[in-house]
Amino acid sequence: MTSDPDHPSQHYFSEEPAVESARKRIEVTLPDGSFEIETDTGVFSHGRVDAGTKFLLLEAPELPTSGELLDLGCGAGVIALTMARRRPECHVWAVDVNARARRLASDNAAALGLRNVTVAAPEEVPSDVSFATIWSNPPIKVGKSELHDMMRRWLPRLTPGGEAILVVNKNLGSDSLQRWLSEQGHPTSRLASRQGFRLLRVT
Ligand SMILES: C[S@@+](CC[C@H](N)C(=O)[O-])C[C@H]1O[C@@H](n2cnc3c(N)ncnc32)[C@H](O)[C@@H]1O
Repeated sequence: MTSDPDHPSQHYFSEEPAVESARKRIEVTLPDGSFEIETDTGVFSHGRVDAGTKFLLLEAPELPTSGELLDLGCGAGVIALTMARRRPECHVWAVDVNARARRLASDNAAALGLRNVTVAAPEEVPSDVSFATIWSNPPIKVGKSELHDMMRRWLPRLTPGGEAILVVNKNLGSDSLQRWLSEQGHPTSRLASRQGFRLLRVT
C-alpha cells in the first residue's frame, strides 16, 4: 500500500481506495427530516456532510413525482438517499466509480429501508434508462477532461424537459463549467450562489 497522497489509490475517486476503512456515523439534518448514514475513509466527505452537498439539498428545485432519478458520483449516498426519501414513488440510481462508496451507499440505503435505490458502477446502468432529474456534486478534482467526459456521457440521458442540478465550488471553476456546458448545447443557468458555491441548472 502506498502512502503517497497523490497516488490514485489515495483519492476519494479511486476505484479501490487503499486507506484502511474506518466507518463513522453521522446525522444528516434537513428541514424535511433527519436521518443517519455511515461515512468512510477513502470516500468523499468522511465524518460530515459536505457544505456544497448540503447547499444542493437545501436549494434544489422540487423533484419530479415519477420516473428515474440519478445521483451522479454518489459517495456515501447522501444525495441519492435524500432523493429516495423525498420521492418514494421514483426510482433512484446512485452511481460511483469508487467500489467502497458503492458498498457504503448500498448499506446506507438498506439501513434506512429504502427499496427504491439502486447503487451501481457507471457501466452497470442499462443504456435504455433515462433520467427525469440528475443531481450531482461532481468530482471536479478528477480534472477537466474527465469531468467533461462525465457530463458528455450522462447529460444526453436526461428525458425531454429533464434537468441536472450541479453544485460546484466557485474556486474550482463553476463559471467556466457553466460556460462550457452552454457551449455544448446544454443551456445552463445559475440557480443560487452562497458561500463560494454555485448551484447550476443544466437543461
Ligand atoms: C464530490 S464527490 C460527491 C459525493 C457525494 N455525492 C456527496 O455529495 O457527498 C464526487 C463523487 O464522484 C465520484 N466519481 C468520480 N469519477 C466518477 C465517474 N467517472 N463516474 C461516477 N462517479 C465518479 C467520486 O468517487 C466521488 O464519490
